[in-house]
Amino acid sequence: MPQSLTVRGKTPTSIATSAASLLRRGNLVAFPTETVYGLGANALDAAAVARIFRAKGRPADNPVIVHVSSRRMLRRVARVVPAAALKLIDAFWPGPLTLVLPKRAAVPLAVTAGLPTVAVRMPAHPVALDLIRRAGVPVAAPSANRSGRPSPTTAAHVREDFPNLTVLDGGPTEHGVESTVVAVPVSGPPRVLRLGAIPVEALRRVVPGLLGPRRRSGGGEESADGAGARSGAPESPGIKYRHYAPGRRLTLFEASEIDAARAYAAAHPRALVLCRDRDARHFPPERVVSLGQTVADVARNLFAALRTRRKGSELVVVGVARRGLGRTVMDRLERAAGGSGAPPKRRGG
Ligand code: TXA
Ligand code: MG
Repeated sequence: MPQSLTVRGKTPTSIATSAASLLRRGNLVAFPTETVYGLGANALDAAAVARIFRAKGRPADNPVIVHVSSRRMLRRVARVVPAAALKLIDAFWPGPLTLVLPKRAAVPLAVTAGLPTVAVRMPAHPVALDLIRRAGVPVAAPSANRSGRPSPTTAAHVREDFPNLTVLDGGPTEHGVESTVVAVPVSGPPRVLRLGAIPVEALRRVVPGLLGPRRRSGGGEESADGAGARSGAPESPGIKYRHYAPGRRLTLFEASEIDAARAYAAAHPRALVLCRDRDARHFPPERVVSLGQTVADVARNLFAALRTRRKGSELVVVGVARRGLGRTVMDRLERAAGGSGAPPKRRGG
């Protein structure tokens, strides 16, 4: 099977057709979405879904998102679509919003890690939509990285982690961070399970009662394998695992801590510094990895920067203000720093 299908922008028909047929026959295909690249399999085929988990080295208790190309396809996987979910769908689909809804029996438990709910989203990327439509089946797809690595925002990142995989190349992704995951129970208000490309503030404009992510446990920072204790009810199951590991030490500073970041960088002269262009003047230019200018740029460039092959003993990151998309960016950076969303390990901690 492993063939390398490379396309830019629009998928040529012959390639789209063969990728769709690979999916239908139970194989894996990586494809671009507007957030990050996904590693897809037929969501209704338990054996195909098991291949995703094996390829990624993903823990079996971390469910994957099912991608659909129409509302009719949504009804094939979700048993109930509450009114609040419909409002969110009207406002944000196709787009980077994933809804956790009661599942239908047709969805294998391998997809949902045994949960009675299924996470569903309709991606906006034309290559993704086209692939799902042609396959004619809902497509289960986690981010196309090996478990624990930063999510892929280019086809080259996917090939780095999976040299033999079929990858549809749609160029660099638009948002650069994953979808926002929202649980919509049959009764009670929706709740954000994972921060993502759509800020909580934007969701609340459509569903004012929507709850933000659960506060993270104070001292309950987890070990790298996710075995540590947490307090409170679970968020998205995947959130307890180590994520986005850049392969070297990462020290994160708040946007407001530029002086501390400068002092730290001075004391660690071989460290690379990831920061916005406006903060770059505080650091030696040859050590700076640019995250761009706006917060949207930082979101788009973040995972590629975490994968940088440039020489450096460790990474120092100057963060962004914690509002809107900035909250998502800081969430990813805290996890990359080694926390599971608990306060990051910093300054020798
Ligand atoms: O943007 C995205 O969401 C990308 C692209 C490929 O669509 N996908 C992605 O998938 O980030 P993944 O597998 O890396 O993250 C899925 C998240 C995990 O945190 C998982 O725990 C959560 O969604 N999730 C999946 N099913 C769930 C369920 N039934 N209940 C609660 N959380 C669920
Ligand atoms: Mg992922």
